[in-house]
Amino acid sequence: MPSGDNAKPVQTRINSETSDCLAPWAYYDDELLELEKDHLFKKNWLLVGHINDMPNPRDYLTLDAVGERALVVRGNDNQIRAFHNVCRHRGAKLLDSPCGQCAPALTCPFHGWTYQLDGKLIGVPAENTFRNLDKSRNGLVPLDLEVWMGFIFIRFQGGKQSLAEMLRPMQDEIAAYKIAQMQPLENTRYDDIRPYNWKVFHDIDNEGYHVPIGHPALQQLYGKDYSDHLVGGVPLSYGVINAEPAKLWSVRHYQKLLPRFAHLPKKNQDCWLYGGIFPSMVLGLYPDSIEFYMTIPVAIDKTRVRGGCYALLDSRREARAVRYLNRRINNATSAEDDNFVRWLQDGMQSSVFPQPNLSSIEQGVREFHHRLQATLPVARLKHHPGTGKVAQANLRLS
Ligand code: FES
Ligand SMILES: [Fe+2]
Repeated sequence: MPSGDNAKPVQTRINSETSDCLAPWAYYDDELLELEKDHLFKKNWLLVGHINDMPNPRDYLTLDAVGERALVVRGNDNQIRAFHNVCRHRGAKLLDSPCGQCAPALTCPFHGWTYQLDGKLIGVPAENTFRNLDKSRNGLVPLDLEVWMGFIFIRFQGGKQSLAEMLRPMQDEIAAYKIAQMQPLENTRYDDIRPYNWKVFHDIDNEGYHVPIGHPALQQLYGKDYSDHLVGGVPLSYGVINAEPAKLWSVRHYQKLLPRFAHLPKKNQDCWLYGGIFPSMVLGLYPDSIEFYMTIPVAIDKTRVRGGCYALLDSRREARAVRYLNRRINNATSAEDDNFVRWLQDGMQSSVFPQPNLSSIEQGVREFHHRLQATLPVARLKHHPGTGKVAQANLRLS
């Protein structure tokens, strides 16, 4: 907060120009995007994958995000560890694929420094040509790692709150799904770059007001009984599958074929449940399978969207059929949302783009904006604070 007489008028002016929803400038500003990367994405937990994406010793996953590079590797001792995917010599990338199995030790492709899978530096070619190189101080730099219900999360910059603590309100709701025992479902993994701001994706995704018009399949599946809730700060949404047979083929057959899943309590047998994990991830929990999807900002109008599905082993014909139908319904829904996101992003350049008029059933949008604004107060401003002044204004409003 500023102090001294000179600062007061500035503060007053800014306060009279704030809004509890993001203004269009916040979707088109490189300076704000850099703050989002630093304060939202580097300091929060990001999902890399699932323990069953890397079930064997030497299996690994990597994640490049917001200028950082993570490597998660299962050691020869079966322990999962996370490191910056950055060689301590001159910074080369140790492993370049998104997933795979590595050698028993990691050898940097540039000059051959070699690390054990626990990060310890064990080999330096022409070691005697380095002056005072202390190998014990040049191991791979570890990252915060937490495995939550089988999902592997990393954090690039340390923080206090554990993921389990943050997601405790969701944990009881979803414990019955046995996510840690699930296996990845074939051909469901995606990782694309889309031409919009990451926040627009969530503005569309965070409310159910558009379902009756925008998503015919979802509306027929659970439109009569859909509700959003905030449970201990964690957004949870429930859609109860309609008893009345749907008109759409895929939905009608999904309703008809959906078998009972013995591990789930009664209330989850006919429920599609969604949970939000700040800043940019969603878990979709269906009786037959689950999915995750998340965004990672690349540029103001470029976003990486990645996701995938998992399920318990179940060889019943109906289980396989409903998983197929589930993908048809969800793929159609994603394609519909993708159009809405593109239209909204384009619209923000219009001179008459409105400050949102939000209904009570769009509360999720407001909550998402509030949460962003709580971390980045400059995002409360209705107008851009001036070129080169975003970080400074953010500090002043903090
Ligand atoms: S950068 Fe890795 S060995 Fe040189
Ligand atoms: Fe949608």
